[in-house]
Amino acid sequence: MSTQTPDENKGRQRKVYIKTYGCQMNVYDSQRMSDSLDAQGYHMTDSADDADLVLINTCHIREKAAEKLYSDLGRLRKKRRKSGRDITIGVTGCVAQAEGQEIIRREPAVDLVVGPQTYHRLPQILQQVAKGEKVVETEYAVEDKFARLPLPKKDITRQRGASAFLTVQEGCDKFCTFCVVPYTRGAEISRPMAQIIAEAKKLAEAGVRELTLLGQNVNGWHNEGANGRKLKLGDLLYRLAEIDGLQRLRYTTSHPRDMDDALIAAHRDLPMLMPYLHLPVQSGSDRILKAMNRQHTAADYLRLIEKIRTARPDIALSGDFIVGFPGETAADFEATLHLVREVFYASAYSFKYSPRPGTPGAELGEQVVEAVKDERLQALQTLLTRQQQQFQQSRVGLVTPVLIEKPGRHEGQMIGRSPWLVPVAVTTQAPAGATVDVKIEEAKSNSLVGTGLAEVAQEPISFLSLDI
Ligand code: SAH
Ligand code: SF4
Ligand code: F3S
Repeated sequence: MSTQTPDENKGRQRKVYIKTYGCQMNVYDSQRMSDSLDAQGYHMTDSADDADLVLINTCHIREKAAEKLYSDLGRLRKKRRKSGRDITIGVTGCVAQAEGQEIIRREPAVDLVVGPQTYHRLPQILQQVAKGEKVVETEYAVEDKFARLPLPKKDITRQRGASAFLTVQEGCDKFCTFCVVPYTRGAEISRPMAQIIAEAKKLAEAGVRELTLLGQNVNGWHNEGANGRKLKLGDLLYRLAEIDGLQRLRYTTSHPRDMDDALIAAHRDLPMLMPYLHLPVQSGSDRILKAMNRQHTAADYLRLIEKIRTARPDIALSGDFIVGFPGETAADFEATLHLVREVFYASAYSFKYSPRPGTPGAELGEQVVEAVKDERLQALQTLLTRQQQQFQQSRVGLVTPVLIEKPGRHEGQMIGRSPWLVPVAVTTQAPAGATVDVKIEEAKSNSLVGTGLAEVAQEPISFLSLDI
C-alpha cells in the first residue's frame, strides 16, 4: 500500500506494470487503463521489478486461468516485502468482477480490486488507496466508461504498432451453460457508432492500418441509425472502411446466431474485410449444443459456413471447441470430429471443459472424468493441427499482401500479417506499417515464410452515399 499522498507524488515519475491474461478484450482494456494512468503521470514499464503500481488484469474463463492470479499475487507480496519498496497491488478483469472482496480475504497484500465496468474510476480509486483505504469496485457503473476513458496519445499508438484492437461491444446475454462471461462482463452493450468512428479515426491518424473490432458477441453489435433504422455490424464495417489510412478490418468473437446476411454480404463486397473468421461452435453434437444452450444445431452451423464460403471462397475459418462437457458420450465427441472434418479449419482453439462456479454446467451430473477429457482433447487437437498444417501448406506459391509489423529475427527480415492472420516472416526492406506483396515460399507450423516483391500502393477509399 502507498503511504504517499497524491500531492507528494506530484512531479515524481511513477511506473505501472500491467500483466494481462485472457482474451483480446483484456488486452484492449489494459491499454485503455494504461492510457488513463498515463494521464495521471504513470508510465508503463515491462517488469514488476521497478513498478510503483502493479495491475493484474485477470481471466475467469477456466479454472487454470483464474488460479494464476493467486500465484502471481504471492510472488508480488514477497517481492514487496524483500525490496522494502512501496508497491501498490491491484487486481482487475474478470476474476476481480467474479470474486471481489474474496480476493483481498485470500491475499491481504492486494490494495484494490476493480471490475471491467469501472476502469474509468481508476484515478480516484488510486487516490483512495494512497490515503490508506482498500478499495473493491465491482458495481456495474451507470455512466459510460468508454466516454470517460482517455484515448491514447499518438506516440503511444505508434509504439503499439500498425494493428490495433477497438472494443465495439461488451457483455453477453446468451448464457451458454458453461460460460462465466455473462456474469463477469454483464449485459450486452453496443458502443455508439460516432464514438467508435472517432476512436478509429484517431488510431488511423496515428498510423494504424489494421483494425480488429472486439466484442464478446461482436456480431451482435447494433445501433439505431437515421429514421430509426437498425444498424448492424455490417453497416459499421462499411462506415469504418471510409476512414482514411485504414486498410484492413477484422472482428472477433462472433456467435453463429448473430451471423446475419448483411454481414455475410460484407465479406463478399468489402475488400478491406480480411478473409478470416473466428466462429466458435463448441461441439458438433446437437444434444450437447442444446445442453450448452448454444441455440443452434450442427446442421445450422454447417449451412452458415456454406453461405459464408459462397460469399468469400478464400475465407480462413477458425473456431473454439470444448471437449468433455457434462454428459458428452463417445458418440457426441465423434460428432464433433465429424463437424471439424466437414468444415476444415485454418486454425482453432480447443479446451477441456472446466466447471465454473455459478454456471449451470457446473451443477450438472454426468461430469466427464479427466482422463477421458484428456484423450478427447488430444484426438481433436491432432485433427485440428493437421488441418492447420494443410491450410498453411496450401498458401505456398501464392502472392499475397502482408502488413509489415516489426523486425524479424534475421537481418533484412520483417514479421507481418497475412490476410488469414497467419504471421509471415518476409525478406523485405519495407518498414512497419507498409503493405507488401509477398511470394509465400514455405509453411512452418505456426507461420509462413516469403519474399517481398513490391510495396502495395494504397488508394484512398471512398464509399458513396451510404444511408447510415
Ligand atoms: N463469446 C465467444 C466465446 C468467449 S469465451 C463465443 O460465444 O464463442 C472463449 C472460449 O473459451 C469459448 O469459445 C469456449 O470455447 C471456451 N470456454 C468458455 N468457457 C469454458 C469452460 N467453462 N471450460 C472450457 N472452455 C471454456
Ligand atoms: Fe460465453 Fe456463450 Fe456469451 Fe460466448 S456467447 S461469451 S460462450 S455465454
Ligand atoms: Fe477471460 Fe473475461 Fe475475456 S473471463 S476470456 S478475460 S471476457
